[in-house]
Amino acid sequence: MFDIIKKLAQTYGPSGNEKKVADAIIEMVKGKVDEIRTDPLGNLICVKKGNGSGKKIMLAAHMDEIGVIVSYIDDKGFLRFSNIGGLPPLVILGQRVVFENGTIGVIWYEEDIDDMKNVRIDKMYIDISAGSAQEAEKLVKIGDMAVFAGDTVKQSGRVISKALDDRIGCAVLVQLALNAPKTDNEIYYVFTTQEEVGLRGARTAAFGIIPDMALAIDVCCTGDTPGCKHMAVRLGEGPAIKIKDRSVIAHPEVKDRLIDAAKKNNIPYQMEIMLRGGTDAGSIHITAGGIPSGGVSIPARYVHNTAETVDIKDVENAVKLLESFVK
Ligand code: CO
Ligand code: ZN
Repeated sequence: MFDIIKKLAQTYGPSGNEKKVADAIIEMVKGKVDEIRTDPLGNLICVKKGNGSGKKIMLAAHMDEIGVIVSYIDDKGFLRFSNIGGLPPLVILGQRVVFENGTIGVIWYEEDIDDMKNVRIDKMYIDISAGSAQEAEKLVKIGDMAVFAGDTVKQSGRVISKALDDRIGCAVLVQLALNAPKTDNEIYYVFTTQEEVGLRGARTAAFGIIPDMALAIDVCCTGDTPGCKHMAVRLGEGPAIKIKDRSVIAHPEVKDRLIDAAKKNNIPYQMEIMLRGGTDAGSIHITAGGIPSGGVSIPARYVHNTAETVDIKDVENAVKLLESFVK
């Protein structure tokens, strides 16, 4: 499973540029699903047919990751940029970014920082080792996107990496597709686009499928680090069954079925109420005439950072939980 996680986490894919991630996933699941297609927004939809008597279940994980987009190149070859997704300014200062063509940039600040509270992205620049605008333009163009650099490593049963939001969800769905759970239901493994810029891909994907039920598989924050906000989710204590985030209130029946599936199979689980951030379930549940939706989340520390951290047991138990849920 670590190999799948590493491969997906290290593949370039900021919002709107998810093709490489989609290709990597196709390579992993082909032969294990009955149909693979994409829609105009780039969503990758892999279908495992049922026996015709079952329900349509949509499982969604987003392929896109946060990043930066070049908005201006100055005469000395320094780049100005805007955010793709939610970027905490303090976290990105001093980070390395990587463009699709492999060009590496360093994010720095145009003045001394006296007060950390006033740090702003529009005072940051990216240094790509170019000496002039012409040299810079040979490497990058206005509108090019870069993602954050960061290894994917295993340590003490945990995985530390960039982009675990939400390649970890993609990895869970890939593993589930490879396990090919036997069920009458028709399973739609949906790898969505543009989640980080407003849950966009999931909306068209859900409308194209109109499933009977849907789950978003994504990360959720934890409440187990020094001085963090009170939250009932801890790393290593099981996948989290969503009650609510900022984008959705889970359908009670979906939530209860997940709890039943966990209890029946002795899978550890926790209940999630996430105070910040939304998930694809937010746009899926209000699509078409309304779709009963919920979520299974992988507890993660330091979300939207280059060192997001998850526990491999939670990842494996998320696969087990979904396996019993779809049956
Ligand atoms: Co995110
Ligand atoms: Zn996410």
